This record gives sequence, structure tokens and C-alpha cells, in this order.
Amino acid sequence: MCKMCWASVVVLLLAVLGMGYKFILSGEVVATADGREAIVLEPAERDMVLSEMREFLVSIQAITEGIVNNDMPSVVTAARAMGTSAQRGVPGSLIRKLPLGFKTMGFDTHTQFEQLALDAEQLGDSEHALGQLAELMQNCTVCHTMYRFETLASLQETQ
Ligand code: HEC
Repeated sequence: MCKMCWASVVVLLLAVLGMGYKFILSGEVVATADGREAIVLEPAERDMVLSEMREFLVSIQAITEGIVNNDMPSVVTAARAMGTSAQRGVPGSLIRKLPLGFKTMGFDTHTQFEQLALDAEQLGDSEHALGQLAELMQNCTVCHTMYRFETLASLQETQ
């Protein structure tokens, strides 16, 4: 068997594994001085993710207000706005830059909002909704301790 052929198969395999790691698991991240990993995005991508973050906060505010007023239809509407359909518009080019841990937590957060909406609709139980909110907000706090966003330009400024 031709040695060169084997060598090229091995090289190709390593390249595929390397790319798989880069695109699926690691994303575009660099270590930073504050201990969080910085996900490096284009300015427009960062703006898009941050605007989704602010929508998370808007939704949480509305959910807690709904719970306090025992207005469960408002809770349903606010939670559903951040449910699984909210992540449909995210472009593949951005998803590739996000590390697996980030994507998993992000996806799980939308799923939990969806479940909160469903339960609020079917059970109408504000205590239950508050418990679910406390649970899902652990994703907010955990993810915020792990990651931050940077652009190439902002990284060059800080180094
Ligand atoms: C999968 C990870 C992840 C999850 C889950 C997450 N965030 Fe974030 N969030 C981030 C990152 C990263 C930043 C940017 C922090 C930085 O660059 O310093 C951020 C920034 C924000 C900001 C600031 C937005 C701005 O305009 O600067 C708000 C508000 C926010 N998140 C709210 C939330 C809330 C509320 C939740 C939970 C419902 C949540 N986030 C869940 C990762 C996450």
C-alpha cells in the first residue's frame, strides 16, 4: 500500500477532526484577564446577541410583574416571547463562533422560557412560574460568569 496515500489520509483526518473541534466545540474564544472566556464576534453579531440579552431582561421584568399582579396571561406572553421560536433568526455564521457550552446554555434557556409559558397557560399557578423563573435564571448567572463578548478591535485595545 502506498505510504504517501496513508500519510495524506492521516493528514486529512486530522484536518477534519481539527475543524470539527474548531467549529462545533471550541468556537472563537480567547482567554481574558478577568477569568472569563471572550467570544470574538463581528460588531454586528455582538450587537445582535446583546440585543437578545436585553430582551431576556425585558421578559423577566414582565414575568415578575405578571406574577405579582397574578396576571397569568401576561406571564404567558412575556415568557413565550423568549421561547424556542426566539432563536430561529440566529445566522449559522454566528452559531459557529459560539462554543458548545454557550450554545447549550442558550438553547436550554429558551426551552425553559417555553416550558414556563406552557405551564403558566395550563396551570395558571404563579408560585410555580416564580420557581421556574428562579431556576432558569441560574443559566443567566452561570453563563455570565463564564463568557464575555469582544470584537477584534476591542481585543486589540485591551492587550
Ligand atoms: C449562553 C450564555 C448566556 C446566557 C444563558 C445569558 N446571557 Fe446575558 N450575556 C451573556 C454574555 C456573554 C454577555 C456579554 C457580557 C460581556 O461582554 O461582558 C451578556 C450580556 C447580557 C446583558 C447586557 C446587554 C448589553 O446590552 O450590554 C444583559 C442585560 C443580559 N446579558 C441579560 C441576561 C438574562 C436576563 C439572561 C437570562 C434570562 C441571560 N442574559 C442569559 C451570555 C449569556
